[in-house]
Amino acid sequence: MQIKSAEFILSNSDVEKCPASRIPEYAFIGRSNVGKSSLINMLMQRKSLAKTSGRPGKTQLINHFLINKNWHLVDLPGYGYARVSKSSKKVFQKFITDYFLKREQLVCAFVLIDCRHDPQPIDLQFLEWLGQQQIPFSIIFTKADKLKPNALKRNVGAYKLKLLESWEALPPCFITSSSNSTGRDEVLQYIDDINSEFEYS
Ligand code: GTP
Ligand code: MG
Repeated sequence: MQIKSAEFILSNSDVEKCPASRIPEYAFIGRSNVGKSSLINMLMQRKSLAKTSGRPGKTQLINHFLINKNWHLVDLPGYGYARVSKSSKKVFQKFITDYFLKREQLVCAFVLIDCRHDPQPIDLQFLEWLGQQQIPFSIIFTKADKLKPNALKRNVGAYKLKLLESWEALPPCFITSSSNSTGRDEVLQYIDDINSEFEYS
């Protein structure tokens, strides 16, 4: 898929105030600092469409972007890291879980996992919750440039085995790097395929 246009639409913390249009929507979620915003910029080939930072907790709101005038991409705050007020210390903030529960336009949640780390309970718990809610998801392993090919293969393989302990089948999985654009074509193709189903249905 060619990216012809990518525009920021709006930010808010209330799913009811998200854009009303019914075009297909894809959301990026995962631990703080896993690379959600960077991945969005890499996919869109725009340096600072989504705001990134070396410090966790950069993205604080639900951010909608309109792509090619016919689908939405959503940058979400990370989970597993709480800054500022005590009330935001909940692991999965309510407005984020509300987003997943109420956003009918959401066709796929991309759950980002840092390829360097062993499976973390918080991510496995979030995947399980998505499954219980019957929200379709795919997994994106991020920061592939930080590992040598063998270590990358070993880690991704171990992750998949861990998933198979609780899931009968694996979701679609992608390996990406926002530093060198690994995985860009695959993720965009996957989105394009889903978008085409919408056009013809
Ligand atoms: P929050 O908004 O805080 O939840 O974080 P985020 O998941 O949006 O992460 P963000 O994209 O802001 O990236 C966090 C840090 O990781 C930044 O310093 C990025 O430069 C770095 N980073 C993200 N993706 C990659 C990658 O593929 N490779 C490398 N080497 N660094 C990355
Ligand atoms: Mg972010």
